[in-house]
Amino acid sequence: MSNLSPQSFTAITDLFHRISGIRLTEAKHALVQSRLQKLATDSGEPDLNVFVQKMVRGQMPEDMLVSVVDKLTTNETYFFREPAHFEDLARRAGAHRGGGEFLVWSGASSSGEEAYSIAMVLADKLGTAPWTIHGTDLSTTVVESARQGLYPMERARNTSKDYLRRFCLRGEGPYEGQLLIMKELRSRVKFQCANLMQPLPALPMFDVIFLRNVLIYFDAPAKRAIVERVIERLKPEGVLYPGHAESLAALDLPLKAIAPAIYQHA
Ligand SMILES: C[S@@+](CC[C@H](N)C(=O)[O-])C[C@H]1O[C@@H](n2cnc3c(N)ncnc32)[C@H](O)[C@@H]1O
Repeated sequence: MSNLSPQSFTAITDLFHRISGIRLTEAKHALVQSRLQKLATDSGEPDLNVFVQKMVRGQMPEDMLVSVVDKLTTNETYFFREPAHFEDLARRAGAHRGGGEFLVWSGASSSGEEAYSIAMVLADKLGTAPWTIHGTDLSTTVVESARQGLYPMERARNTSKDYLRRFCLRGEGPYEGQLLIMKELRSRVKFQCANLMQPLPALPMFDVIFLRNVLIYFDAPAKRAIVERVIERLKPEGVLYPGHAESLAALDLPLKAIAPAIYQHA
């Protein structure tokens, strides 16, 4: 165990900021130290300050940098978080019935709970009609776990009994206390890594884009750049859902609010 010096804290958080766009303040010092300690030990360099020095000088393998980024992102999420968006989605999907493929993007999908909540609503409203969900996130670890679709039961506390029964399998034996999203839903949700701070991978045009609980980590110029990039993938009549705590009002974007935390092209 070693303490992360103020210089090392600045060096590693600057590096993380350059990659992710997220600025971690001094208030996160203890958190950064504890999250990096295990990585440093596993890498064979238990002195955190030497580990950071090697990291910023590019003397560590590339996959160690990926692990650092994974460790420093905040991935907290759960099913049917901020339920008003899912009610709006259900209305839109119901109105869309018979209108071609319905496409939804979960733009910071973390471990996938948001994308699978969307999938349950679309399976309910659109059934076997064409619909697809894309989930993207910066962190390789969460993207990998999203693809599995296996979760501790407590993450589903906001999920209706009806949806749990229709779309999830209850774990037994070694999987007791967990749920698995059914294959029919998993096959409609595609997860990939994408950094919102960089040019986006090839993605279709979406009817609905969820971009929730990620903008809070960025300063205003970065927020504006991200939203401008994201709405290039929004259909003319499509809607964007930022988190309810993430107002876009001050960003001077070509968007209009049509309801709380629901935006359309202006
Ligand atoms: C708190 S989670 C939000 C998950 C979900 N959208 C929700 O509202 O519950 C924030 C996610 O944003 C991702 N993230 C942070 N910076 C990112 C970036 N530059 N590009 C893409 N994803 C990013 C993190 O990896 C994390 O999984």
